[in-house]
Amino acid sequence: MDFFEVATSTPTMRRFLDWPIPEADLIKILETANMAPSGSNAQPWEFVVVRAANARREIQKLYESVWGPYKDSAIIRGRTLLSPRAVKALKTGDEFAAQLAMADLFNFGATYGSIFPAIELMMLAARALGVGTAMTTMLTSKESETKALLGVPAEYQLIALVPMGYPADGFKRPMRKPVFARIHDERWDRAWPHSASLPRSSGEG
Ligand SMILES: Cc1cc2nc3c(=O)[nH]c(=O)nc-3n(C[C@H](O)[C@H](O)[C@H](O)COP(=O)(O)O)c2cc1C
Repeated sequence: MDFFEVATSTPTMRRFLDWPIPEADLIKILETANMAPSGSNAQPWEFVVVRAANARREIQKLYESVWGPYKDSAIIRGRTLLSPRAVKALKTGDEFAAQLAMADLFNFGATYGSIFPAIELMMLAARALGVGTAMTTMLTSKESETKALLGVPAEYQLIALVPMGYPADGFKRPMRKPVFARIHDERWDRAWPHSASLPRSSGEG
């Protein structure tokens, strides 16, 4: 797949089919993630691939225990009142939490800035192979429980849980604010001059 097609069709996937990812593809995805840059080339990531159904169910329970209160928090309820899109997102979030036991789960341990490039590369590589992903950090508030479940040593930090699987829905272009509204020409107070003459990308929202 063309890089730009991959990069512009990698939305967060929250509904998965219960199909296993071939081992060769998993390795290809992780080999790609492993190419990521990191501060001082420390390469501080570790990947815990969780495929066993019982472990995934335990992770699902932990995730749901965070998702429930998050969903009911004042800030989220406020948003729900304001936006129909948020109502839909919450419903998708419920389904996602309920679906976690169906996705392969990847946990990362180490420091943020040097981990996120690896996560992004992992998600793009997965997308190129037809595999959907969701970057999630909600489980970090259950870090000790998650680490105990997966036998992760104390000195490692849990950064993200990336459920991964074949998507129940297709790969769509993510909705984003128009990029030209946020490009500045030399100085903050100068809008990019050519924005009016360039086409708006589809899917911008
Ligand atoms: C640092 C970070 C943490 C995130 N944590 C979660 C999470 O815990 N649960 C979740 O469902 N999505 C999570 N997301 C996904 C975002 O909700 C998603 O990237 C954003 O809504 C855009 O979605 P889209 O790419 O499908 O348009 C996270 C994304 C990032 C970058």
